[in-house]
Amino acid sequence: MYRIFLLIAAFTIICDYTRAEDTKPERSSFISYELFPDAKGEHINAHGAGMLQYGDIFYLYGEFRTRGAQAIGVSCYKSLDLYNWENIGLVLVNVDIAGHDIEKGCLFERPKVIYNVTTKKFVLWFHLELKGHGYAAARTAVAVSDSPEGPFEYIKSFRPTPEMWPMNYSQEFYRAYNENIDKTGIESVWSSDGFTGKYLERDLLEGQMSRDMTLFVDSNGRAFHIAASEENQTIHIRELTDDYLDFTGRFVRVLPGASNEAPAICKYNGMYYLISSGCTGWAPNPARSAVAPTIWGPWVSTGNPCRGVNPHNNMGPEKTWGGQSTYLQAIPGKDGCYLAMFDIWRPHDQKDSRYLWLPAYIKDGRLIVTWQDKWALDWFDDLLK
Ligand code: GAL
Repeated sequence: MYRIFLLIAAFTIICDYTRAEDTKPERSSFISYELFPDAKGEHINAHGAGMLQYGDIFYLYGEFRTRGAQAIGVSCYKSLDLYNWENIGLVLVNVDIAGHDIEKGCLFERPKVIYNVTTKKFVLWFHLELKGHGYAAARTAVAVSDSPEGPFEYIKSFRPTPEMWPMNYSQEFYRAYNENIDKTGIESVWSSDGFTGKYLERDLLEGQMSRDMTLFVDSNGRAFHIAASEENQTIHIRELTDDYLDFTGRFVRVLPGASNEAPAICKYNGMYYLISSGCTGWAPNPARSAVAPTIWGPWVSTGNPCRGVNPHNNMGPEKTWGGQSTYLQAIPGKDGCYLAMFDIWRPHDQKDSRYLWLPAYIKDGRLIVTWQDKWALDWFDDLLK
């Protein structure tokens, strides 16, 4: 009798537990600035993230950060509605092999994944800093998987396109500019060094620096790697090979000397839109935007795309609400509408860094991102009327 009682009690507890799991409230909006719980209630750990839509499923890939500043690998989450995310786990993680590119102590930053329809492979690129070298290595790294849920097989890391010149760089013009500065005795300033290609020429043999990065797949399937280069002074856009695993060698300098990082890119009605930040490390600064008729440019600055104020910290466009851009995700079925993703970094406890996922759209040829405390995708409906 007593045993039966115990069995019934155990059964009731299990049923209650299952019911509690089933009734965990589903999220139906984006809430800015607060913790962003995954399906198990844990704060999402995917910083400097990117997204991939594969079929009906969205995958989120980001830096898996521990306390302190370490980013020890790439995390992956999946969602059907962009509000509710299931943690898939780490899809690439540092290794215990001394001397390996991704040995423990290295830094994984700003991972992005794209899908190659021809090879049917998922290709992950990220910014890699080698163990013990701070941010000096400035390499890009690539890994590949048969599944969006990994695991990703690490391939290599390197400085892009050694011994290759950008398609839009005239050495004669920039050299003349440099000499002129020297002749007039005007002190060569940081930004003019960036503008003139001093670092580009310095790194010609070793390969160009590659730090904050994103990826972009164009409508014709050609893919591009967009990264802060030349001591973070100038963005480089590079074409990837057909299999997305390397560079073709075709690349351009974008907004030379303008100090852009944290790039995110989208295309609407044949025009390309870029959002980026200035270079102040983990501290926020005003976001920038630019537009171009082709991926190769010419890129023209269109100013700060942010509108509105974050009431939690009283920061507006002058500080990107406390955030820094990381990705623009197109919203299916809502033409010209994007989820603009930003990180609010917390350098003393990076895994607690927060996210701003805000509505972005194109208006009068410019990208606009507006502050919203709490919003859902039907926010765009009025805009589209
Ligand atoms: C930021 C960059 C981050 C990270 C950080 C390190 O400017 O966007 O991804 O590299 O610097 O200080």
